[in-house]
Amino acid sequence: MSTILAIETSCDETAVAIIEASGDESSARFTILGNVLLSQIELHRPFGGVFPTLAKREHAKNLVPITRAALEEAELLLEDTQTIASGTHDAIAELLEREPNLSEQFFDFINEVETPKIDAIAVTAGPGLEPALWVGVNFAKALSLAWNIPIVAVNHMEGHILSALATDAGDNMFTIKDVALPITALLISGGHTELVLMRSWLSYELIGQTRDDAVGEAFDKVARMLGLPYPGGPEISRLAENARLEKIPVETTASIATQNQFPQWKLPRPMLHDKKYDFSFSGLKTAVRYIVDKNPTISATQKKYLAMEFEDAVTEVLLNKTMRAVIDTNTKTLVLGGGVSANTHIRQIFKRVIADKYSDVSLYIPRSSLATDNAIMIALAGFYHANRDQYTDFSTIVANGNASLATQNIDE
Ligand code: KG4
Ligand code: ZN
Repeated sequence: MSTILAIETSCDETAVAIIEASGDESSARFTILGNVLLSQIELHRPFGGVFPTLAKREHAKNLVPITRAALEEAELLLEDTQTIASGTHDAIAELLEREPNLSEQFFDFINEVETPKIDAIAVTAGPGLEPALWVGVNFAKALSLAWNIPIVAVNHMEGHILSALATDAGDNMFTIKDVALPITALLISGGHTELVLMRSWLSYELIGQTRDDAVGEAFDKVARMLGLPYPGGPEISRLAENARLEKIPVETTASIATQNQFPQWKLPRPMLHDKKYDFSFSGLKTAVRYIVDKNPTISATQKKYLAMEFEDAVTEVLLNKTMRAVIDTNTKTLVLGGGVSANTHIRQIFKRVIADKYSDVSLYIPRSSLATDNAIMIALAGFYHANRDQYTDFSTIVANGNASLATQNIDE
């Protein structure tokens, strides 16, 4: 049994989670002891996207209170005065020197609590916004020094894959067992669109990826064109769902087309027939922009239709490529992960197709709260690596915004 404290600051969520986990790669279970997440979405909204300097500042401001709250929730916080050795103090001060706000809070916190019973600290080291990642990494290092607890540097995408495999057993408890290999993971988020193949446990091969925009980025940009707030994924999804419920008639499209002498309301399905597993979403985004620019008086109904057509196009491409990879690699387990896997339509289509046509493939999709960024997924990845004694050497931990989970497939 081990207790892992995890820190996630790769984007606009500051999150700390504590899990107690046991078992091994064939069968593991974990309980969420503490989980505190602070979203910065409201702060970034006026910028129409995540503003890195602001993200960094907010992480630095909030990490200590969030860690305290997570430890408190886990009943691992014992108030007590503690003095750290001067050498350790100096090393921590140096680590946090660029974050005076965090440094001050850090020492106040460390000096008034006992070392908690934690076996490892897991921290997202990449990919993500590098300045934001550094705050989490330096904070993890400082905690590691103060409490003498080893660190596991975790790849954010690995967290998305592994957490998708968790089955809810009630009472904050989850199990991961009987997962058949190989696993194909379709990772779809604001920064990534990847097909990752896991032939053996914790070994990853990148078999496909976007050549331009990530799918979440395309959702966000299209939402912006339609005048919807950031983040746009859920907004597009809501409009598209309304369009489907209202069964917006085909004539609406036809009349739009004739009124504007613009026959392109059917959006393209980029690279659908390309034999590779790569994606491209920038053309799709541009096709939407073209329609919006040509139709300055676009109505609410037309926007709904366009949102639906966009969501359909994205889903068709994702499904087609993923199922091709599933067949070609003889995949037994398919995982969807990343923020966009919270999309209701994408979830439904994948579920339906797997149930109808691929009953020998198990499909895992995380619940929405685990699909978007969180620290539980980082704790879980940390647990599996700690179990293998794969701690990260203190001096080599760096934040890497472009960290890759896998090696590029050499057959490409
Ligand atoms: O994984 P994530 O939380 O953060 C990154 O690592 O990027 O993904 C965020 C992305 C955003 O682009 C957001 O618009 C998208 O996930 N997203 C959605 C939905 N919920 C979040 N996209 C489509 N439909 C949704 N329901
Ligand atoms: Zn993510």
